Amino acid sequence: MSLKVANIVGARPNLMKIAPIIREMRRFPQVEPVLVHTGQHYDDNMSDVFFRELGIPVPGYNLEVGSGTHTWQTAQVMLALEPLLLELCPDCVLVVGDVNSTLAAALVAAKLHIPLAHVEAGLRNFDPTMPEEVNRKLTDVVSDYLFTTSRNANENLRREGIPEHKVFFVGNVMIDTLLRYHSRVDALQVSARYGVAPDNYAVLTLHRPSNVDALEGLTSIVDVLDVIQTRLPVLFPAHPRTYERLVQFNLLQRLKSMPEVKLLKPLGYLEFLSLMAHAQLVLTDSGGIQEETTVLGVPCLTLRENTERPVTISEGTNELVGTLPERIIGAVWKVLDEGGKTGRHPELWDGRAAERIVAILRENLGGAGE
Ligand code: UD1
Repeated sequence: MSLKVANIVGARPNLMKIAPIIREMRRFPQVEPVLVHTGQHYDDNMSDVFFRELGIPVPGYNLEVGSGTHTWQTAQVMLALEPLLLELCPDCVLVVGDVNSTLAAALVAAKLHIPLAHVEAGLRNFDPTMPEEVNRKLTDVVSDYLFTTSRNANENLRREGIPEHKVFFVGNVMIDTLLRYHSRVDALQVSARYGVAPDNYAVLTLHRPSNVDALEGLTSIVDVLDVIQTRLPVLFPAHPRTYERLVQFNLLQRLKSMPEVKLLKPLGYLEFLSLMAHAQLVLTDSGGIQEETTVLGVPCLTLRENTERPVTISEGTNELVGTLPERIIGAVWKVLDEGGKTGRHPELWDGRAAERIVAILRENLGGAGE
């Protein structure tokens, strides 16, 4: 018996998660992975570069939805995906993460009664104003196979009444990718490329609407950078959304005039991994980066009030510092003066999560062992 899986990706953080899953699926002749890109992200440096670097096959289908409001984007993915799934007739739809494309694909699969697998299920920060929280919760409700990265996620799902037999604690596919490429990035010496010394700079990423969409909030972060750069160079690969806001709020010139802040375009996976691995600290509002820095052992100061990834705090190098200037600056000085938080690899973040996921899907849907 064969197992045809429609794997859906849309945005940058989906790509490092799908890479090890597709690779693992391709090891089994009975498994037929079909890759569908929704086109939520479409720039070369937000999408294509990750396919090239991570050896992800060219998607069989691209829905080319592009940017828009969240409702518009979600609806466009749904409208384009329904006829495709009807044509493909997969045995399973697999979605990863919590972006709009994840939820859209999950709803279409559920409406068509196609078994649905959600990788990275059960993450919660209990903040309903964050678009990803809505996407995560709704995707989990309609999923048949919920693959989690931590025991805490299993607990969240249990509390929401998701039957235990649907939930599988498998580890973290994003870390599968990190562990695969980590040893290769040292040679890249990207810190030298950007004129900073290894272990003597900060990396900043910022793209949450709550941090970048309001003039006051973004101005305050730029003020903070002005202070931090007096003691530590900051490399800032700006997400397109953030760059647009910096232009709109007239903050770009000010940022460019700071001698030790280097504003960069979004980077590819290998280059960014190398920058993170050799940073003295990372400042971010991303979810995935909280996990990656934990495994790299690099102190991470998260510019948010909450996280859906508490294991990175309890076991890893992550610390929530919110968005108040004095708190962020105080936390940075503390790392510089006293050293940062240390941690350990959370349970099952061992590079084998994709192996476990594919084994479970084969066992349940594909007649494993044939
Ligand atoms: C999306 C995800 C977020 C994830 C992030 C990683 C949702 C709700 N959000 O946020 O969870 O952490 O991706 O990047 O799905 N743009 C480009 N080129 C692109 C893509 C986007 O210029 O290739 C610009 C457009 O102006 C667009 C804006 O970025 O309007 C936002 O893109 P969008 O996909 O809506 O959300 P992200 O902020 O990227």
